[in-house]
Amino acid sequence: MKKITVLDIGKMKGEGEKIPVLTAYDYTMAKILDEAGVPIILIGDSAGMVFAGYKNTLSVTMDEIRYHTRAVANGTKNAMIVADMPFLSYQTSVEDAKRNAGLLVQEGAEAVKLEGGVVVADTISAIIDMGVPVMGHIGLTPQAIHRMGGYKVQGKEKKQRKRLFDDARAVEKAGAFSVVLEGMPSDLAREITEAISLPTIGIGAGPHCDGQVLVIHDILGLYDNIKPRFIKRYANLKELISSAVNVYVEDVKKGRFPGKEHSF
Ligand code: KIV
Repeated sequence: MKKITVLDIGKMKGEGEKIPVLTAYDYTMAKILDEAGVPIILIGDSAGMVFAGYKNTLSVTMDEIRYHTRAVANGTKNAMIVADMPFLSYQTSVEDAKRNAGLLVQEGAEAVKLEGGVVVADTISAIIDMGVPVMGHIGLTPQAIHRMGGYKVQGKEKKQRKRLFDDARAVEKAGAFSVVLEGMPSDLAREITEAISLPTIGIGAGPHCDGQVLVIHDILGLYDNIKPRFIKRYANLKELISSAVNVYVEDVKKGRFPGKEHSF
């Protein structure tokens, strides 16, 4: 395995090779994903919900994403590391955005992701001009949950579809190396994927995107506060962990642990 870069990701689209992306927030998980050959590891601001238990992603801070990025970078050899820019780290000014993107790179990120299309196009260009690749994120953008009136599929109406198309074009023109398409009808995601040159990474956007991204806690069955339809569960680690912990608790209570082999 070799280090994955933006060039490899672009090539994957060119060659029709699908791009699997997963989130990680800590060293141990990043090492597992990296060794499994996941090409892109995303330090998503979803950390706020699945790691810290916040009710949405809006309270996630730069300090938190910096900490998670450092931990993930320590566990990653080959995957490309993309760090999410949290709410308020790029919306306030282009200067803030550049500085915060730079801070994430100093922690080990090799690219940053930020939400929005037309309205953040100048910000995306400015970060890229600094030498930092950017992944866009359009459609259902969780940092705009209050404006959208909840986690609602976007682009169902004609006017909205056009807006999302404009967003995709703006992110492409700004120079992003890829774009997340979240929560939109499959046929719209397909049209966007066919129309733009950069790889599209879908989440709740159907099968036609160039890649797919999911939150690691969701696919492993660790987080069950919400279970949107677009999630596929590949394991039930919550159940596995619960039964292991129950056995441990019983072992300690009954004096079965530690045994001779664990003692000095
Ligand atoms: O925060 C996150 O994990 C994300 C992905 C799910 C796209 O933005």
